[in-house]
Amino acid sequence: MTGELNRAAVIAEAEEYVRGKLAGDFSGHDWQHIERVRRSALAIAQEEGADLFVCELAALLHDAADEKLVDDAEGALKEIRGWLLARAVPEPMADHVLEIISTMSFKGGSNPPMRTPEGKVVQDADRLDALGAIGISRVFAYSGAKRRPIHDPAVKPRESMTPEEYRSGNDTAINHFYEKLLKLKDLMNTETARRLAEGRHAFMERFLEQFYAEWEGRR
Ligand code: ADP
Ligand code: NI
Repeated sequence: MTGELNRAAVIAEAEEYVRGKLAGDFSGHDWQHIERVRRSALAIAQEEGADLFVCELAALLHDAADEKLVDDAEGALKEIRGWLLARAVPEPMADHVLEIISTMSFKGGSNPPMRTPEGKVVQDADRLDALGAIGISRVFAYSGAKRRPIHDPAVKPRESMTPEEYRSGNDTAINHFYEKLLKLKDLMNTETARRLAEGRHAFMERFLEQFYAEWEGRR
């Protein structure tokens, strides 16, 4: 199908498309996560002057080709490309969206910085959802879904990891704070997200303090 790009229709259809794909996810990457990322991506994009349509579309699709959620990430990217082109999204714009969703993942922190303002915005929005009260909820949901423990004082956080090590291995929910979540505040691309990250970061630090105090029966 070729023809005019109908932005509102593409957004509405993208919503349906990912809802179907992520139904049945219990690892914190469910539709509600996508919805929150979309909302903060739009808010940050407004502040930063990024393209709203590209940000919203990339936010909606950002987990649809994620290697930890789909078996064949390459295949999923191809499918999304075809899906976008079939809805008259111009090829450079479709490729921009694909570039964003295929490079924004944390993977142990080893990725190069996002190239475009829209990429920076969507990556920040996704990272913000890993912080604060919601971030805390998602860590434990993810760990439970992976059958990993809440905490084990004998398992020390890993200092640096390859993407493979980051995905697998002997991990606990509490260690994930040190391996990823507490690093995110300083990795934000935009001023807007950095500001929001500060408060969420402080809340996680208070949570950990209380957690250890209870663990040791001090509080
Ligand atoms: P990215 O796609 O940016 O690499 P992930 O999908 O790995 O990010 O992480 C998304 C969220 O899933 C994290 O913020 C965290 O809440 C949860 N998560 C990912 N890996 C782990 C882990 N090893 N232990 C606990 N939670 C995790
Ligand atoms: Ni995400």
